[in-house]
Amino acid sequence: MSDVNILAFSGSLRAASQNTALIRAAAELAPAGVSVSLYDYSDVPLYNDDLEVPESVIRLKDAITAADGLLMAVPEYNYSMPGVLKNAIDWASRPAYNSPFRHKPVAVMSASVSAAGGVRGLQHTKTILLGMVASVFPWPEYFLPSSHQKFTDGRLTDPVDRERLGLMMEGFAAWIEKQR
Ligand code: FNR
Repeated sequence: MSDVNILAFSGSLRAASQNTALIRAAAELAPAGVSVSLYDYSDVPLYNDDLEVPESVIRLKDAITAADGLLMAVPEYNYSMPGVLKNAIDWASRPAYNSPFRHKPVAVMSASVSAAGGVRGLQHTKTILLGMVASVFPWPEYFLPSSHQKFTDGRLTDPVDRERLGLMMEGFAAWIEKQR
């Protein structure tokens, strides 16, 4: 596989986030030639149309434009996606239908302490991405239920969970390549 550069966003900003750990696992399990780098968007302010577009948002939009694809690890918050990530997405989504998200390949996944694994939040996330004409990776949702029991020292341990994630990363990278 030729070089594929994937930019990853975690919907949780806390240091010990299981969703961020899931991104690390995706990076580890991605096929050769595929890089996955976590983007820190914690400097993006609350959306306010009165503000001049902040430097942090310009950097965010440039990084999205430069990436071959995006990977979002989205914890479910109250049956939807976390406000922090939605806020960053809202900033980067302008101009409407012609933002860096337009036709950008995006895969979504979720880690959740609940038995539902965050699938309801993933549905909302996909709808939001479609609203920006992003290319949402057509794949069964990758969700990790009881995620507080799935990592040891920040590493995804269960072989079945690892295999499922590796398959998704392989499929996502191949799908990105097909679209170039
Ligand atoms: C949650 N969580 C959660 N889980 C779920 O399955 N359905 C839900 O509706 C919610 N709602 C919710 C709201 C808020 C405000 C918080 C903080 C958490 C749990 C959440 O999806 C996740 O498992 C944890 O937040 C841990 O994720 P990180 O920080 O380890 O990535």
